[in-house]
Formats: sequence, C-alpha cells, structure tokens
Amino acid sequence: MGFFALVTGKRGPSGFGSASTAEQVTEGVVASNLTAIVTGGASGIGLETARVLALRGAHVIIAARNLKAANEAKQLILKDNQTARIDILKLDLSSIKSVRAFVDSFNALDLPLNLLINNAGVMFCPFQLSEDGIEMQFATNHLGHFLLTNLLLEKMKTTAKTTGVEARIVNLSSIAHTSTYEGGIRFDRINDPDSYSTLNAYGQSKLANILHANELSRRLQEEGVSITVNSVHPGLITTRLMRHSPLLMKAFKIFTFCMWKNVPQGAATTLYVALHPKLKGISGKYYVDCNETRPSKDAGDENLAKKLCDFSNKLIDGASKI
Ligand SMILES: NC(=O)c1ccc[n+]([C@@H]2O[C@H](COP(=O)([O-])OP(=O)(O)OC[C@H]3O[C@@H](n4cnc5c(N)ncnc54)[C@H](OP(=O)(O)O)[C@@H]3O)[C@@H](O)[C@H]2O)c1
Repeated sequence: MGFFALVTGKRGPSGFGSASTAEQVTEGVVASNLTAIVTGGASGIGLETARVLALRGAHVIIAARNLKAANEAKQLILKDNQTARIDILKLDLSSIKSVRAFVDSFNALDLPLNLLINNAGVMFCPFQLSEDGIEMQFATNHLGHFLLTNLLLEKMKTTAKTTGVEARIVNLSSIAHTSTYEGGIRFDRINDPDSYSTLNAYGQSKLANILHANELSRRLQEEGVSITVNSVHPGLITTRLMRHSPLLMKAFKIFTFCMWKNVPQGAATTLYVALHPKLKGISGKYYVDCNETRPSKDAGDENLAKKLCDFSNKLIDGASKI
C-alpha cells in the first residue's frame, strides 16, 4: 500500500484500505463467543476498538490506569449499545507491580481470553524513569505489554485449546518504528538520559512492539499453539497521544494533512487483524491500512527479536528483585 492508496483510500488486496472504518472491516463478524482485553481502551483508538468489539458481541475488558476515564468510556459505549459487555480493570503498564496485579484481578474473574489488544501507549514524553527504573516509553509501550502478554499466555492457550477457537494478539506499533536509534534497540543504553531522544525512544519502543510480536509468533508456531500474534500501524490519527508535542504535531500536520485518518478509520486495522476470518492462521505479520506490509529491516531481524526477548526478561527479573 503506497502513498497514493493512503491518501485516496484505494482498497488493497484485503478489500479494505485507509478509508475503511472499524465497523466496516468487521461487518457480519459475530464475536459473542469471545473475551477481549484492550489496553488503553479508555480513549482514542483503544476506545473505538473496545466499542466495535462490543458491538460485535465480544465481552471487553478495558484495561486502564485512569479508572474515571475508563468508566466514562464504558458509559459512552453503553449509551448506544445497552447490551454491551464491558468491564474495567486497573492497569498501569509502566509498573511491573501493576501489570502483575492486573493479571491477578483478571484471573480472579475466571473468564476465558481470546483476544489481547496491546494498544496503550505514550509518545515523545520527556526523559523519565518508571517506578522500576526503566525509561518511560520503553517501559510503557514495550515492557509492560511484554510482561502482560507473558502472564496471560497460559490463559489464552487454555482458551484456544478448550474452545477450538484461534486466539489472537495484536500489538499496536507505528510507522515511527523506522525512526529508532541506530542499531534498533539500545540494549546498552536503554536508560541513558544524556543521549535520549524523544522521537528515537518512541521509535525504539514501537520497533520493540513488532519484534515482540514476531518472536512470540515464532515460538507459538513452534509449539503448535493456536494463537496468532501480529502488529499494526493504525495510521495518523489525532488523539491525546500527541499531548507531549502539540506544536510539533501541528507543524507536522500542515505538511501531512492529506494522510490523517479519523478515529473509526484509525481502529480499522486493529479490528481487521483481531477479528477478520481471512486472517485465520496468519501470524508474525505487520499490517497498515488493513493490508500486510513489510516493516523495516530491523523489524524483520530474527536475532534482534530473540535478543530483545532475553533482554526484556532480564529487565523484568532485575526490576522485580528491587
Ligand atoms: N494516533 C496515532 O496517530 C498513532 C499512530 C501510530 C501508532 N499509534 C499507536 O496507537 C496506540 C493508541 O494510541 P492513541 O492514538 O489512541 O492514543 P491515546 O488516545 O493517547 O491512547 C493511549 C491510551 O494508552 C493509555 N496509557 C498510556 N500510558 C499508560 C500506562 N502506563 N498504563 C496504561 N495505559 C496507559 C492512555 O491512558 P491515559 O489517558 O491514562 O494516559 C490512553 O488511554 C498507541 O500504542 C500508539 O503508539 C497511534
């Protein structure tokens, strides 16, 4: 899918394109047998993802750090869909303790888990360490989701096995994965404030989202487990994600105005990858505008993906001992 298709909305091989909405790509899909977790489901693309999953009948758990915003999101969804099944659980992805507590709370509900939408994210925030001492964009966008996924994996495996329904994990990455530090992931300087770049740190975390999806996909396929793992770039959508860089974003938008989507279009690729029957068995791929696309060279690097996985486990082990 090239620039022309992006600005004109021309449909690609999937039958959908940049102008397709989340409702359109899931038309006719019945998801009433599915339970889904959407991280960051209280706003932006995540809220639209939660809304459309619920519209198709799924039981949706909105995982959010701001419970007030999550409750408002739930009420908004219920306003137009009184039978929507929405629950809310607290999750702060930048905190290992909070991720573990979220999984405990979810397990206590004794629900199955078919879909995990790793959607939450922060962008371009000034240098900051998480409570575990890890750079904030990496901690939130990658490490929190990495741990969350690992802790929920057994539940997803059991669900897939007992129901015979393929489970799916979707990682929200970004085209910004191409704007990372040299070498992709700065394993030796992940927390270095002096050479920190807000842009490159975001790109690094979004590259990590793809590498994580690819490595997990490879391992699950090796195990013969019926869980697919894919990553997506949702497009450019005006949301609260831009809160740390309002002026930069305004300027960027002037030059890229024809490339921006609305929120329903922004959630389409996530919904397509999460629910569309055409994607049964498809794993380890990257989607843009609802069509498979080749990510950067770093994103396709298997050794980098394995190294990131080991590194992430070590970071979590180290932080958990503090
Ligand atoms: N919008 C775009 O143009 C664009 C482009 C490419 C990729 N993406 C990706 O799409 C995803 C969704 O972004 P969006 O545009 O919908 O932005 P958004 O409206 O800001 O949504 C992000 C969500 O993540 C939550 N979040 C942030 N930090 C968290 C934490 N530590 N723990 C739990 N939740 C946390 C936010 O909650 P709070 O309100 O509490 O902060 C918010 O609900 C992100 O992963 C982003 O990187 C977006």
